[in-house]
Amino acid sequence: MKNKFAFALLATLLCSTLCMAQVQKLPAPAKSLGKNVMEALWSRSSGTEFSDKMLSDQELSNLLFAAIGVNRPAEGKITSPTARNFQEIRVFVFTAKGAFEYLNKENALKQVAKGDHRGLIADRQDWAKTAPVSLLIVADEKKFGSSDAKSKVIMGVDAGIVSENVNLFCAGTGLMTRPRMTMDTPAIKKLLKLSDAETPLLNNPVGYAK
Ligand SMILES: Cc1cc2nc3c(=O)[nH]c(=O)nc-3n(C[C@H](O)[C@H](O)[C@H](O)COP(=O)(O)O)c2cc1C
Repeated sequence: MKNKFAFALLATLLCSTLCMAQVQKLPAPAKSLGKNVMEALWSRSSGTEFSDKMLSDQELSNLLFAAIGVNRPAEGKITSPTARNFQEIRVFVFTAKGAFEYLNKENALKQVAKGDHRGLIADRQDWAKTAPVSLLIVADEKKFGSSDAKSKVIMGVDAGIVSENVNLFCAGTGLMTRPRMTMDTPAIKKLLKLSDAETPLLNNPVGYAK
C-alpha cells in the first residue's frame, strides 16, 4: 500500500515536471516601443526576403501580445477585437525548434510539436520557410459556439484583424511580415492534432528583412 502511494506520488511529480517543461513563460510585453501609429501605417507593406536572424524572446512576446495578448487583465480582454468577445482565434508559433501554441493568459508558449515544420506553413511558397517565425492563426468554433455560414465569415473577419495587428506591429517595430492564406492545411491540422472545429485561416511569416 505504502509502495503504491509512493509510486503514484512519483508518477504525479514526474508528469507535472515533464508537462511544465513543455510550457515556456515569455518575458512581459513592452509597454512602449516603435514608431507612432501614423508612421507605422505609412510604412506597412508585405515582404518576402527574410534574414534568418531569430527573434528574441522579448520580441516574440511583443509580437504575440500584438496578435492576441491580454491588454485588460481585469476584464480578460485582448488586443484584437473579436465578435461578441468570443476570443475564438488561437495563435500558433512555428520556429526551427518546433510548433507552439501561444497561451495569452499565461503569456507563455506551449510546445505542441518538436522539429522544424515551417515548410508546412510555406507550402508552395518556398521563401516563406526562411522566416525565423511563422504565426498561424486558427479559428476555434468550439469557442465561437456556432459554425453556420455566417459564423464562419465572422471568424474569418476576426482572424483578419489578428493578422492586421501583426502587420502593423511589424511595420512599427522594424520587422517584416506578409499575411498569407497559402499553407498545407491538412498537414498542419494533423501535426497540431486539430479537430474539424479548429480551422487554420491565415498565417504571418515574421522576421527581419534580408
Ligand atoms: C487574406 C490575404 C491572403 C493573402 N495570401 C497570400 C498568400 O497566400 N501568399 C502571398 O504571397 N501573399 C498573400 N497575401 C499578401 C498579398 O498578396 C499582399 O498583401 C498584396 O499583394 C498587397 O501588398 P502589400 O501587403 O505590400 O500592400 C495575402 C493577403 C491577404 C490580405
